[in-house]
Amino acid sequence: MKKIPIIMDCDPGHDDAIALVLAFASEKLDVKAVTVTGGNQTLAKTLNNAKKVLSYIGKRPPLAAGADKPMFRELEVAEAVHGESGLDGPILPETDYKEERTFPGGERLPAVDLMRRIILDSPEPITLVPTGPLTNLGILFTAYPEVKKNIARISLMGGGIESGNWSAAAEFNIFVDPEAAEIVFTSGLPIIMSPLDVSHKALMMPGDLDALRKQGGRVSVMVAELVEFFYQYHIAQGFAGAPLHDPCAVAALIAPELFKTAEYHISIETKGKYTTGMTFADRRFWTNAKPNATVCLDIDRPGFIRLIAEACKTYD
Ligand code: RIB
Ligand code: CA
Repeated sequence: MKKIPIIMDCDPGHDDAIALVLAFASEKLDVKAVTVTGGNQTLAKTLNNAKKVLSYIGKRPPLAAGADKPMFRELEVAEAVHGESGLDGPILPETDYKEERTFPGGERLPAVDLMRRIILDSPEPITLVPTGPLTNLGILFTAYPEVKKNIARISLMGGGIESGNWSAAAEFNIFVDPEAAEIVFTSGLPIIMSPLDVSHKALMMPGDLDALRKQGGRVSVMVAELVEFFYQYHIAQGFAGAPLHDPCAVAALIAPELFKTAEYHISIETKGKYTTGMTFADRRFWTNAKPNATVCLDIDRPGFIRLIAEACKTYD
């Protein structure tokens, strides 16, 4: 079966790390590169976390660091959720894994230039899988609009139709960089959107965590430790389990049968006093608003958990 070539753009981040585990385990995906943005923590920390997670699972794809702040705003991090390191919980070994360097002086290749090179050189249209603020994609489409001709789709985690999490109206990834999100949602490219409406149902429960620990294996144990930490924040908020947001963006590509979706036109609020970062869907049936996103709204939770557990086992 032909694999889907993808670029993961992330801000590890506990759930980003699990999304990387899922993506690299799948027979259906060919991860061409990983790019990193500031988000859950500063860029220096999310980059270091990406290196440690990828090294730990035995993968060293082309890697590049992107934006250290949103396009037009200051960076807001989610330290309360992901900890001081951005990946508190498991102790992962340091690594000598380095970002791509192709300039004569050996400077780091910026994420958008790595993305552009891979996209334009690919014989197959590339799928972008952003699981953090959309700053790298916003810059990519602005600086190099020609890349759009060889992008198949975007499968992203972000937004919330019924509610936000970082504010009452806005989900964190979109809240951090709404202008970049607006560029993405007006790009004209096919979008599969995994908002909070689905990721708050993609819960790993304590029993699932026990089963993951019992199945053993170094990646299963790492994922269990990631979820264990991530769960503490959410249990305090009253969640029955840990919402695995970012793996939804990968699962939507490799196991679409797990999801119930709707076609909506999504607009991004960039100016609202209370609503900046809101992703609002035009659901007026009489306006025939042209949809710009396939929005995941429900999930087969046990099937999703099985997918994650099976993925962890592939590393044993
Ligand atoms: O709101 C959830 C999103 O924000 C996830 O991508 C999580 O990693 C954080 O980036
Ligand atoms: Ca993320």
